Amino acid sequence: MEHLEIEERANRIDEIYVGHTSAQRAVAGIEDCLRRSLTAAEPFNAVLIGHAGTGKTTVCNAVLKNLPRRIEAREGKEVTVIPAFYSEIPSPATIRGVASSLLGALGDVHPDRGTAISLTHRVITQLKACKTRLILLDEFQHLLDKKRSQREEYRQDVSNWVKTLINKTHVPVVLVGMPECEVLVDADPQLSRRFQRRFRLDNLGFGGNEKGDFRLFVEALSAAIPEYCGLADFPDFCSKTEALALYAASGGNPSYATGLIKEAVIVTLRSRREATQMEDFADAYDTGICQSGSLVKINPFRVSTEALVRSIKKV
Ligand SMILES: Nc1ncnc2c1ncn2[C@@H]1O[C@H](COP(=O)(O)OP(=O)(O)O)[C@@H](O)[C@H]1O
Ligand SMILES: [Mg+2]
Repeated sequence: MEHLEIEERANRIDEIYVGHTSAQRAVAGIEDCLRRSLTAAEPFNAVLIGHAGTGKTTVCNAVLKNLPRRIEAREGKEVTVIPAFYSEIPSPATIRGVASSLLGALGDVHPDRGTAISLTHRVITQLKACKTRLILLDEFQHLLDKKRSQREEYRQDVSNWVKTLINKTHVPVVLVGMPECEVLVDADPQLSRRFQRRFRLDNLGFGGNEKGDFRLFVEALSAAIPEYCGLADFPDFCSKTEALALYAASGGNPSYATGLIKEAVIVTLRSRREATQMEDFADAYDTGICQSGSLVKINPFRVSTEALVRSIKKV
């Protein structure tokens, strides 16, 4: 099998969405903001926050999947209807740069021509033409880089820009990003009043007697993997021992967990096998991909459960 084909098969893991408790709460919450904004005098905006790899972009994609784009004929022309508009704030970003990138994403032919104000007005006009009902702005912390956001007037400019976008479009905005995004919102009473809904994603818990979200997450993923990746077999992670090793390796972070799972699939396919075993996880861990997320210094897939528990307790 070619390397490309191996990686392509492993990457299909990215298509699996697991609606664990906090992800599902965020998806349902954002959908609720959209629904209620349709009839309310003021839109219901939200903040979706979490550290890297906790699943923010995945939640956005789950929302977008239910609100696909479509083509509509209007006065003899074909217009793209974008019920939910998603955009990533580029890095580093200025307000003008953001307005320009939003315009580009909305299909404007000269997204770099104009001042910050005129670009923003074109964004607003375009969103109306696309009948947009929800705006998701991902990586919002890029607008808040440390140096500039120390200046009160800069923070005020960002707040005002967000307020303009909401007031002029009457469309709910979801600011998606690292925890510092919430600080911006809370620093401005007018903004915090508009952004009352807060959704948080975090590393998933292992649980005690009852299985925590992490265990449910990896069980759901593992169950889907044979079909997605075309494998004959894959560990089911239902046993506490196996799940604990993966938890120790990833710290409960969804991104570290799926990264390691992907690597284990690659190890399997590169050794010309079609069934992944726990041994493949041990080898995958040795590549170092979980180094910054791991709770332990040892390879959690190569030690006894007792030694693993002792190691976790030490940190
Ligand atoms: N709910 C989920 N279902 C399946 N995989 C997930 C989920 N949340 C996160 N992941 C995995 O973690 C990776 C990182 O998630 P992502 O949404 O990009 O995190 P963030 O945007 O918070 O940095 C994804 O590529 C995916 O593999
Ligand atoms: Mg992201």
